[in-house]
Amino acid sequence: MKKVLKLIEERKQEFAQLPLFQYMQDKSIHPLQRLAWAPCATPFAIGFGHLNKYDFRKEPTEDPIQKIINRHTYEDDHHWIWLLEDLKKLGFDKTMKFSDAIKFYWGDETYKTRQVCHQIALHTFQQEPIIVLAAIEAIEATGNVALALTAEVANELQQITNKSYRYFGQHHFCVETGHATGTEEVEQILENIELTDKQRDKAFKIVEKVFEVFSESVHEMMAYAMNHPVGEKNQELPNKMSMTFV
Ligand SMILES: [Fe+2]
Repeated sequence: MKKVLKLIEERKQEFAQLPLFQYMQDKSIHPLQRLAWAPCATPFAIGFGHLNKYDFRKEPTEDPIQKIINRHTYEDDHHWIWLLEDLKKLGFDKTMKFSDAIKFYWGDETYKTRQVCHQIALHTFQQEPIIVLAAIEAIEATGNVALALTAEVANELQQITNKSYRYFGQHHFCVETGHATGTEEVEQILENIELTDKQRDKAFKIVEKVFEVFSESVHEMMAYAMNHPVGEKNQELPNKMSMTFV
């Protein structure tokens, strides 16, 4: 598994260079604008809860790797609730016709993001647990990159709004270790697992797929942020002079 973990680390470093992550670090841009893509995270966050609950979790099991997966799913199956809280605090929870909300959720601007959990479910379907765990490790690596940066932006925003953000802020970053959670020394356990050539090939493929679908989603979110500047359409940019932001 060492080679798989090495590949994940390499892809993680490349993933961190995507334009959205550079954009999020640009302090000349208002922190709320740097999170203008936040509504697009909804299909991912809700889909991810389901992926953990209905696809990754398999109970009961005697398989030690599946047990690691199962424990991990209980941490990652409910974070979407934090996202909905943050969307409200960020001012993205405006009244919208039900049909418009559905068009956004299932529309072209979130297509790639909806594909993330769908593609991961397809590629992990009926795979042995160690392959699924390789996918989870890759997913956690992407989460670690994104959440480290959203936590910085959320912290800047908190200085202005006095609000804390459970999904985008430090809270989420702290519960996501960058690895499967719920099992002590999981990294050590993973490193010591010997894979067959066939398993390694499958794990490599799934890791590449995970980074591919997340990268496409991140590009899509960047495009959304560019096309939907905050501060337009009755959304007010909070500043230190005006604390009226809801
Ligand atoms: Fe999470």
